[in-house]
Amino acid sequence: MTALEKIGAAPVRVGSTALYDWDDLVQEDRAHRLIYTDPAIFEAEMTHIFGGTWTYLAHESEIPDVNDFITRNLGLRPLIIVRDAEGKIRALYNRCTHRGTTLCRFDKGNSKSFQCPYHGWNFLNTGRLRGVPWPDGYAEDMRDPKYNLAQVPRVETYRGFIFGTLNLDALPLAEHLGPIATVIDEWLDRNPGGRVVVCEANRFRFKANWKLAYDNSCDGYHVAYSHRSLLETENRFAGENAKGMAYYRNSPDAQPMYMRYTGRGNHYKDKRPNLEKRPGGLWALESAHPGMEHYEADFIRRYGDRAFSLLDLAGSEPVNINVFPNLSLLGNHIQVFEPVGVDETNAIWYGTMIVDDGSIGADGVRDINALRMRTQEGFPNFGEVDDIANFEQIQRGLMAVEDEWVYMNRGLGITDRVKTNNDGTITAPATDEAFMREHFKEWKRLMQTRANLAIRREP
Ligand code: FES
Ligand SMILES: [Fe+2]
Repeated sequence: MTALEKIGAAPVRVGSTALYDWDDLVQEDRAHRLIYTDPAIFEAEMTHIFGGTWTYLAHESEIPDVNDFITRNLGLRPLIIVRDAEGKIRALYNRCTHRGTTLCRFDKGNSKSFQCPYHGWNFLNTGRLRGVPWPDGYAEDMRDPKYNLAQVPRVETYRGFIFGTLNLDALPLAEHLGPIATVIDEWLDRNPGGRVVVCEANRFRFKANWKLAYDNSCDGYHVAYSHRSLLETENRFAGENAKGMAYYRNSPDAQPMYMRYTGRGNHYKDKRPNLEKRPGGLWALESAHPGMEHYEADFIRRYGDRAFSLLDLAGSEPVNINVFPNLSLLGNHIQVFEPVGVDETNAIWYGTMIVDDGSIGADGVRDINALRMRTQEGFPNFGEVDDIANFEQIQRGLMAVEDEWVYMNRGLGITDRVKTNNDGTITAPATDEAFMREHFKEWKRLMQTRANLAIRREP
């Protein structure tokens, strides 16, 4: 018995998807409704995408100590993400090897072992079966590795972000991330010590396909329309000084912001060039929050010239970083998309805090984090309700079977509008759909590939 068990991932294994010509379904300028509505395609995605490529699982700050665990999903696989007694991060299948029930029913905790609620089999947090009740009822040797929990064979972290894949041939994570890693570095490095800690989450569930959320993650075309009420609220008290996302109001493509596709389905919308480059440039854009003037005056009194660069740490970072298929860093949030069914998805928004590296002091860090709580109640997070309303209405529209296509051709075919850079990345104006055309090429590549997938068990 080897520790690795190969699992099939050929498209032919999964129902009717072998009947589809993927190049017909996803073309350069349009995608077919079936990719959002067909349960067989969804089932194939749960192996080819969620499993076939690196997928975000959790953040290291959620399991800081040995024996800490949290429960998450990789596609539809329930997982326990655990830091075992030796500090190794593992992604165990949260599925008892006896009859298959979920083993751990808690969101998080600290435990050296997990006892199955059904018949009491007990597993160490390394995944090994530790013991079963009344073992003399078994003729077999229960130390056979087949009884140890399945685990995701490859788990790697990039600066605190934990990813997993079942694909034995996937590139090492840092190589797979490629140029998007530089933008993640920038997102982290503006914070003291170059790190953040995950706080609690704001959880949404919507009745629509997960890709509709990813299609929206870099969409600069919808903002002025979908989020109009929020833009108006942000600016109600602002007078001449436009706040928040106001730069989307008039000709967004005339602004210095842009989108860039960096490969492997990853892209980002960079609104940072819209800011005034000075300490406090980001803070100046923050919409009105209760008590912010008090904090600002207090920071100036306590920190003098340094106050505004500290206040910038509370400001919502104007960049959306999207790591295919399920991770978005938006403002100061870590957003995760969790497919539930072909027409059902969780969107979970984890808030983040900064930590004291000695450069600010505990009081300053506490106050910045208090302000971050307020700013994280602002645009990106509370814009989600507008977006979800659209996702659900798209799903409804896509049930009209005769009207088959959705279009993603904005910017396509206009000379010099979409540029391929020397490093192979692609840049386009803020409202272009180039990001969507490109991430669908990666989606199609994964759906067409017979990947080398496996699960692992402790020997
Ligand atoms: S299903 Fe877990 S012990 Fe029976
Ligand atoms: Fe939006």
